[in-house]
Amino acid sequence: MKLIHTIAELRAELGKFQRPSFAPTMGNLHDGHLALVRQARSLGDVTVASIFVNRLQFLPHEDFGTYPRTLKADCEKLQAVGCDVVFAPSEEELYPEPQGYKVHPPSELADILEGQFRPGFFTGVCTVVHKLFNIVQPSHAVFGAKDYQQQMIIRRMVAQMALPITIHTGATLRAQDGLALSSRNGYLSVSERAEAVQLSRTLKSMIAMLRAGEHNLAAIEQHAMHTLAQRGWKPDYMTVRRRLDLQAPQLDDLTHPDRLVVLGAAKLGNTRLIDNIEV
Ligand code: PAF
Repeated sequence: MKLIHTIAELRAELGKFQRPSFAPTMGNLHDGHLALVRQARSLGDVTVASIFVNRLQFLPHEDFGTYPRTLKADCEKLQAVGCDVVFAPSEEELYPEPQGYKVHPPSELADILEGQFRPGFFTGVCTVVHKLFNIVQPSHAVFGAKDYQQQMIIRRMVAQMALPITIHTGATLRAQDGLALSSRNGYLSVSERAEAVQLSRTLKSMIAMLRAGEHNLAAIEQHAMHTLAQRGWKPDYMTVRRRLDLQAPQLDDLTHPDRLVVLGAAKLGNTRLIDNIEV
């Protein structure tokens, strides 16, 4: 496995291949990321993972400064799953000057849910992903389903910008109790870690209400928000949306559960967790 820090070296290395497959990450890798890299391996003739903590997608009060940088351990894990190339640029390499040109996804996709609570987040994500796509020029790229809105927005960006890349979504990996794997789970104390499973449990209870024929979405959402708040969480949203466009379902959608996804984001102590489950 090659560890490469510069765009020039990466281009030289990838010039030997036809169909790179790509898994972009911010490092601090867990089994969920490694599953994405394994999936990428099956898609191309060389597998590239990037590790870059992207300043552009963090708000000033968020955890950019403290986000764990664990390059050595990450490389060992990537080597073990058969990754061929790790691209880990410095900030100066990727952003040698302030990134004035940005990719702004449309408001109806990017200013709802995560974008409502993290303004500018998806502009930061699309800008870095577009730039990484230009650098790596992959044929295939893999994103995790845990970031449901992210993978949808990137899919649409690729389609609208006619980028010659097939986007794949990797299933969310969960701990035994059901907590979705996330780099941010590492911030949880022992007692918070035990409580954290309630986020996926509450999403499941929303699905149970839908399946039981409850069509009052506001009631389902309020019940979920209340359940978490009572346990000491600070929920941002717990909501039922259409898979297609993440908009509120119409009555007709409610009779087709395969059109629906439940999504949630909530803070437990200082840690903000997100999760989603397709109905
Ligand atoms: O999902 C992530 O880790 C990041 O948002 C990504 C796609 C690597 C862009 O920085």
